[in-house]
Amino acid sequence: MPYSQNYDVLIIGSGGAGLSLALKLADHSMRIAVLSKFALTAGSTYYAQGGISAVFGADDSIESHIEDTLDAGAGLCDPEIVRLTVTHGKSSIDWLREQGVIFTEEQTASGEIKLHLNKEGGHSHRRIVHTADATGKAVSLSLIERAQEHANIDLFEHHNVVELITDSKEGDKRILGAYVLDSKKQEVRTITARVVVLATGGASKAYLYSTNPQSSTGDGIALAWRAGCRVSNMEFMQFHPTCLYHPHAHSFLISEAVRGEGGKLILPDGSSFMQHFDPREELAPRDIVARAIDHEMKKRGIDCVYLDISHKPEQFIREHFPTIYQQCLEFDIDITKQPIPVVPAAHYTCGGVLTDSYARTDIANLYAIGEVACTGLHGANRMASNSLLECLVFAERASEDILQKLSGISPPPPIPDWDESQVSDSDEEVVVSHNWEELRRFMWDYVGIVRTDKRLSRAMNRVELLKKEIAEYYGNFRVTSDLLELRNLVIVAELIIRCAQQRKESRGLHYTLDYPETDNSKPAQNTVLTP
Ligand code: FAD
Ligand code: SIN
Repeated sequence: MPYSQNYDVLIIGSGGAGLSLALKLADHSMRIAVLSKFALTAGSTYYAQGGISAVFGADDSIESHIEDTLDAGAGLCDPEIVRLTVTHGKSSIDWLREQGVIFTEEQTASGEIKLHLNKEGGHSHRRIVHTADATGKAVSLSLIERAQEHANIDLFEHHNVVELITDSKEGDKRILGAYVLDSKKQEVRTITARVVVLATGGASKAYLYSTNPQSSTGDGIALAWRAGCRVSNMEFMQFHPTCLYHPHAHSFLISEAVRGEGGKLILPDGSSFMQHFDPREELAPRDIVARAIDHEMKKRGIDCVYLDISHKPEQFIREHFPTIYQQCLEFDIDITKQPIPVVPAAHYTCGGVLTDSYARTDIANLYAIGEVACTGLHGANRMASNSLLECLVFAERASEDILQKLSGISPPPPIPDWDESQVSDSDEEVVVSHNWEELRRFMWDYVGIVRTDKRLSRAMNRVELLKKEIAEYYGNFRVTSDLLELRNLVIVAELIIRCAQQRKESRGLHYTLDYPETDNSKPAQNTVLTP
């Protein structure tokens, strides 16, 4: 692969958001670099199961999708952004099909072939377009293949962004590029670009238990924050109710679509409990289901609850959930015959880098798309399968803005190389792994599904200590991928805690025993932090 240091557009992230944007720009004679800090399939996109929400059902409507999204968002969604996103559902699915993604279809009684639609929590209709239970894999592999074929796109695996490069012109900041660690060669390079796009995914790895892959360490949020961008709504970390509970299963999700097809949540004695928490029972929005499970686990001192789909015909289960069936079987759980042990786990970052309706951040020519961004779509709680839709719609919006502006953006001036003259190789890698472990554990214990003021301030004290230790380490030693992630995670943890401390009420995903009610005495406010 030819290595060039200057690009028109530098996209940091090769998930659904980053690759969609690259492909939407690539036919317009420009040079595009796409980075992934691990393999190209490293992000959450590859692991997405349930699907992508879009209005296709004969009985469904745009208005209904909007209403459900607003309802899940508990008063904090931006209604214009919700409308913008939802109205682009069908065109986004059509675009993916043009890129070669094959979605699951069904034959109707009249012989017509139609997209099969799943149902998930919070949705009042079947509207989840999917590829069996491995939608993300289908999307990811098609987009990677298209990008690899395109002469205008250079893909860089194992390239981890260390820091964004900016300058100020008449008081306004603009982006110039990024310092990037080639983690195979262990050298930091400078990549300059007229436009930089953060598509780095979420931050759920701030928690000990998470459904997310290793890459979700909130790097884009920390990079943007250090560069001077506002960050919003970080208290709204979403916990997925059903992650497989097994000592050897790392982060394996049991899709909400299992509940959509009739899966029941049960206690170890076989009794159901969701009817005590919400009339929608298993298909209530995620915050409600995750809290109900957490409540039952704590009340009864049990390690997990169970999700039972075994009352459905075996063939149906194997056809609809082949990946989940196979994965569970590897752990000796036959889901056609027995219930699946499940626990909630950190899943999705509703907050992030504050963007406008064209994905623009506070820094000129710096965009943020996908899970790293806070667009206003999700409010206080993301509805299932609205995330991949957001990746696609905001990739489209950013591409429109970039295409319109690019010719007017001058190329960056020469940038000094990364300076390693004052640092040496680390002599104590254990400091990094120990701090990682500690951070993720106290975030789980103190800043998890149920919070209190006291727990938050305990967590903040620990963040302060870790920040000092990590800054010292970063100042003295050569950067490694693990150190970069830890340095970003501690900032993300701080932002989550600060946002949570500011919200003196319970709303959506933020639940605190000190203020258990939603404050309806005044209009709901987003939490916005300014660097
Ligand atoms: P990601 O796909 O996470 O990609 C991030 C990219 O950024 C990666 O390439 C990574 O290597 C790169 N990166 C990160 N930091 C750096 C750095 N410092 N330097 C260089 N590169 C970097 N949503 C739905 O809508 N429907 C679903 O069915 C669904 N199922 C899910 C199932 C699971 C198990 C999980 C974890 C999530 C699911 N979600 C689902 C959420 C959804 O998958 C994600 O929100 C979405 O895929 C995020 O896409 P993205 O492109 O923003 O980021
Ligand atoms: C799932 O399949 O349950 C995940 C869907 C989502 O996170 O949107």
